[in-house]
Amino acid sequence: MAYEMIEVRVEADKVGIITLNRPKQLNALNDQLMDELGAALKAFDADEKIGCMIITGSERAFAAGADIGAMAKYSFADAYKGDYITRNWEAIRSIRKPVIAAVSGFALGGGCELAMMCDFIIAADNAKFGQPEIKLGVIPGAGGTQRLPRAVGKSKAMDMALTARMMDAQEAERAGLVSRVVPLDKLADEALGAAITISGFSQLAVMAAKESVNRAFEGSLSDGVMFERRLFHALFATQDQKEGMDAFVNKRPANFVNL
Ligand code: CAA
Repeated sequence: MAYEMIEVRVEADKVGIITLNRPKQLNALNDQLMDELGAALKAFDADEKIGCMIITGSERAFAAGADIGAMAKYSFADAYKGDYITRNWEAIRSIRKPVIAAVSGFALGGGCELAMMCDFIIAADNAKFGQPEIKLGVIPGAGGTQRLPRAVGKSKAMDMALTARMMDAQEAERAGLVSRVVPLDKLADEALGAAITISGFSQLAVMAAKESVNRAFEGSLSDGVMFERRLFHALFATQDQKEGMDAFVNKRPANFVNL
């Protein structure tokens, strides 16, 4: 598939990088961009040699939200019948390998929601997060009212959704929205380093860890703990578990084969 609104490349033979590429519109997210993003993520997910993906934007904007010009004209009937604006956003949740958001600049509205759909967020020190939809007479429509409180707690999520104020990178790290903050010029290397580390582990264990952490995020504690235990025990059926533990016991590097 030829892409117009994203750029796609592979680094280190095992990391798939997707760069949102509508710089003039601060990477505002329209249906075409989201279709392309979904297709690129699925292609990387299906590619045996890819162990991890990164979604990133420009220095000025990860993404400034859903495309307001495109959606301004919709009526309720249009949006509801066509499932417009956010129809394919949850495609990212079907991706089984890890997806890192490398965020610099604005991550607002749908941009913040897209970052939160990724498995974790590494932010540049100029990143700004926000859910300003209230200023447009609407509310977050791609999971913001659900994922933001789970990430930062009710009080901060309410503050952001109700006042539309932005959170800077330092506040986002303190609040637990992002896992690391790095200087802007180190963002790409930091995200790539994390992705290469992940790609070096057993894909089976990586996918199981991702599935299990998501269970904690999306379900009850008791269900999550049981789910985790089943997956943990199941990993003892893999060659990679034998290899990883044998390597530790014998003080040698592990050589995982994804079996
Ligand atoms: N949609 C469409 N175009 C956008 C956009 C968006 N979300 N955000 C920015 N742009 C465009 C601007 O219209 C402008 O285009 P022109 O040069 O053609 O006028 C260009 O990007 C640059 O933007 P600004 O001139 O406004 O740049 P700034 O530095 O003064 O401000 C900003 C930057 C604070 C991000 C500001 O652009 C802004 O507030 N953008 C809108 C943010 C927003 O409300 N996002 C939520 C969208 S709704 C949503 O996402 C729903 C959902 O939950 C799925």
